[in-house]
Amino acid sequence: MSSRTALLAGATGLVGSHCLSLLLAQPIYARVIVLTRRSLGRNDAKLQEVVVDFERLSDHARELGADDVYCCLGTTRKVAGSDEAFRRVDHDYVVDLARLARENGATRLALVSSVGADRRSSNFYLRVKGETEHDVQALGYEVLEVFRPSFLVGARSERRAAEAVASAVSRVLSGGLVGPLRKYRPIEASTVAAAMVGALVQSEPGHHEHAFDAILSLAPRAAASV
Ligand SMILES: NC(=O)c1ccc[n+]([C@@H]2O[C@H](COP(=O)([O-])OP(=O)(O)OC[C@H]3O[C@@H](n4cnc5c(N)ncnc54)[C@H](OP(=O)(O)O)[C@@H]3O)[C@@H](O)[C@H]2O)c1
Repeated sequence: MSSRTALLAGATGLVGSHCLSLLLAQPIYARVIVLTRRSLGRNDAKLQEVVVDFERLSDHARELGADDVYCCLGTTRKVAGSDEAFRRVDHDYVVDLARLARENGATRLALVSSVGADRRSSNFYLRVKGETEHDVQALGYEVLEVFRPSFLVGARSERRAAEAVASAVSRVLSGGLVGPLRKYRPIEASTVAAAMVGALVQSEPGHHEHAFDAILSLAPRAAASV
């Protein structure tokens, strides 16, 4: 039965585009609001597209009324152009979105972070991801599901040479990543998206973090609830 509203940011991205298709197919959602800086060019009776400048997200605060929030936002330092610009997207935009949605009544949030996220890390990327997780946790969501994938596998329109090489190498080595190293195995972006949807449509109260194995086990829930 349709009763809930989902709010999705990052719908034009690798994980986010899979997430959008899954959300539109979920009977539990009557409406799917997408926050995007460029139109998706997609029509669906459930879909409500809100084109925003994330620098001015608070201007759209009243359009962020939803039950469940899915955040698949992110950039790379190369695309962003500087550490500061990277942090603006991967930390500030994510925390702003989570805060504004929470203030509008959202109680459940699924966030894509990264394996190794740690606000005390000496690695800048992992530190920013850890700070984002920490600051989102402080917002008081009843359900917070944080996903920590390693390399994402999937068809990207944009070429990311370094990521493609690292992903190819880790795919070759994947079988050797056993025990505590399993969390570094590459994973399909579609599987991460399914786990996010699966975790919120059949949610359990509390804050949870999911690496490789947990993502694999949550993913089938999304299909099971259609
Ligand atoms: N790639 C990996 O191997 C990997 C591994 C671990 C974790 N992660 C994390 O997983 C998450 C999802 O990754 P992904 O590969 O699916 O991301 P992606 O394909 O690069 O998509 C990112 C999304 O964020 C949006 N975005 C980026 N910069 C923006 C800006 N300045 N203003 C507004 N929107 C902006 C993009 O919108 P536009 O289309 O308009 O640019 C897109 O919708 C990210 O947080 C990433 O850090 C990725």
